[in-house]
Amino acid sequence: MKSDSLDLARARAETPAVRNVLHFNNAGSALMPDPVHQAVLGHLQREAEIGGYEAHDEAIPRLEAMYASLARLVNAAPDEIAFVENATRAWDMAFYSLPLKAGDRILTAEAEYASNVIAYLQAAKHRGVILDVVPSDPEGAIDVAALERMIDANVKLIAITHVPSQGGLINPAEEVGRIARKHGIPYLLDACQSVGQLPLDVEALGCDMLSATGRKFLRGPRGTGFLYVRRALVEKLEPVFLDLHAATWISEREYTIAPDAKRFENWESFVAGRLGLGAAADYAMGFGLEAIAAHNRHLAAQLRAGLEDIPGIKVHDRGREKSAIVTFGHPHLDAETIKQRLRAQGIHTSTSSPDYARFDLGRRKLPPIVRASPHYYNDESEIERFLGAIRAL
Ligand SMILES: Cc1ncc(COP(=O)(O)O)c(C=O)c1O
Repeated sequence: MKSDSLDLARARAETPAVRNVLHFNNAGSALMPDPVHQAVLGHLQREAEIGGYEAHDEAIPRLEAMYASLARLVNAAPDEIAFVENATRAWDMAFYSLPLKAGDRILTAEAEYASNVIAYLQAAKHRGVILDVVPSDPEGAIDVAALERMIDANVKLIAITHVPSQGGLINPAEEVGRIARKHGIPYLLDACQSVGQLPLDVEALGCDMLSATGRKFLRGPRGTGFLYVRRALVEKLEPVFLDLHAATWISEREYTIAPDAKRFENWESFVAGRLGLGAAADYAMGFGLEAIAAHNRHLAAQLRAGLEDIPGIKVHDRGREKSAIVTFGHPHLDAETIKQRLRAQGIHTSTSSPDYARFDLGRRKLPPIVRASPHYYNDESEIERFLGAIRAL
């Protein structure tokens, strides 16, 4: 299926680095488009010219607009959005603020991301919380029927990763949301790899909290991310960390907490990055997330089909619905060697290893695998060049 509605020529013209590198590492950190780069550089320039606080004051309307842009990106309200420096801390601010206690159960999926699982294990170790991993269906996605069967009165959180970083799966996040809502259980969605790659709508997803990063498929600057928390839940969550931005010291022995999602932020942050993140959200919406997703599906399908035709190469992606993250192994060369050999040719990939996803790659007994993640500014000729480079290995 070809995606005719995406303005590929514009996407490539505004991503000058495509002339120098073949960048299939968008699941790691994408190439920033010019408008995002300019938003960051422009602010850094003003900081150099007039000082950080003064440049901040000038940027206040644009900084406020960032909340509106991120809200529009995920169909939320601006007061439900917090700027956080990365997806992990965004997720942490939600997770560690939940009042989980001994005997409470968390349900997650096998494809869960390492940092999230480490946090569950820490809650299990220190608070007696119980972690239960929902089995996968035959295609590797969370088995939603099994999820529903595992629910009882002790389940206090459902938390999954939408698009895992270690393979091509898209988890059925909306179906999970329907079950979470039906049973009135808070639902935390890690959308780190889906934001900017797929249309996201927190109402349709049915999630109460959603964490995302700037630098991956959203094409924002490094050191940026955000958290969405549903308004009805915001006031119920007292963040584990508070500062004079998230709270106000109103009398000697009292403080009040910000009424909106800013309670999950802290005062000092990467202001140029905030502007870049807002610009990245606007930029993606300018192309349209449906058009981006369609182009990515097309490229990823071409890449998987081409890899499968190369003798010895094994594609490891699972899932009925697949993302633009393509993973594979070679019969003789390890993943790191392949990554380095490609890098020497200006071709950018990454690797995924079992310690990033022990319930997934670990249980499948896979060694580190190569991860190639194209995005909508890539084209078919780059896929062909990439396949040629793999054949030549
Ligand atoms: C699924 C998933 N969640 C969370 C993260 C963490 O994101 P960040 O590095 O922005 O904290 C990653 C990063 O690779 C990821 O792939």
